Amino acid sequence: MDFTNKTAISTGAASGMGLLFAENFAELGGNVVMCDVNEAVLNEKVSAINEKGKGRAIGVVCDVRDYAQVCAARDAAVDTFGSIDVMANFAGGYAVRMLNVDRSLEFPEIPIDVFDWGLDVNLKGPFYFAHAVLKQMKKQNSGLIINIGSITGVDGSPQGMDYCTAKAGIMYGLTKSIAQFGARCNVRCVCVSPGPVLTRSEMAGMKTLLGRAAEPQEIIDLVLFIASEKGQFINGENIMIDGGRSAMGRG
Ligand SMILES: NC(=O)c1ccc[n+]([C@@H]2O[C@H](COP(=O)([O-])OP(=O)(O)OC[C@H]3O[C@@H](n4cnc5c(N)ncnc54)[C@H](O)[C@@H]3O)[C@@H](O)[C@H]2O)c1
Repeated sequence: MDFTNKTAISTGAASGMGLLFAENFAELGGNVVMCDVNEAVLNEKVSAINEKGKGRAIGVVCDVRDYAQVCAARDAAVDTFGSIDVMANFAGGYAVRMLNVDRSLEFPEIPIDVFDWGLDVNLKGPFYFAHAVLKQMKKQNSGLIINIGSITGVDGSPQGMDYCTAKAGIMYGLTKSIAQFGARCNVRCVCVSPGPVLTRSEMAGMKTLLGRAAEPQEIIDLVLFIASEKGQFINGENIMIDGGRSAMGRG
């Protein structure tokens, strides 16, 4: 794969899969615009990519819940590199975990602002970025938007109602709608929905038919394939990559 002269925006790029995607894309010659709220770690990761001397990276402190910051990230990408070829929406997570909420609390006891955060980051973030970058992609008459769903969008979760509601929304409604709009300007949209991924060790405890969780690289390899020359016919689809968890049945 070769992403020379291509530019990707990656959100949640200070850690986990958003970071790994940015590192891989740059390693393959592409430019990356790395967005995250964690400025200190973001700057460190951007420098590390630039020191390698392959694709170039810039960091943009961006809270995906804030549309003005989302537009500023889009503008930084276009001003610096001239195009946006791939928009990868990795920022997300379980609000109860990300906001350190007491795990013994049941759904109705958890303050509503926790769920506001979860819905905003996981659903509005990708929606805002779609709105912002499609303006540019339409102008270019090219582009790809990758959403990151989750097995939880299929399974449901009593403590993560925000998360599974948001993920189900982007896996189906948002991804298909963007693909339908994109048809008029040569823009594809694909959702990649992992089962458990070892960006955190506790994910090893979540069952799959293969008896293990995914290495982050296994997820990013699929994202890169979709973005590459070989993946150009994949569009409007939610692709589960979950070791067969969604095929486990009830037995
Ligand atoms: N790890 C898993 O098992 C798993 C499984 C299925 C889906 N996913 C999804 O994959 C994506 C990446 O997961 P991960 O485990 O690699 O993530 P992670 O927790 O390692 O990283 C998330 C990043 O998002 C950033 N972030 C948080 N709030 C933000 C905001 N408002 N604006 C911008 N950035 C923000 C954080 O600072 C962090 O750097 C997420 O959308 C997650 O829901 C993960």
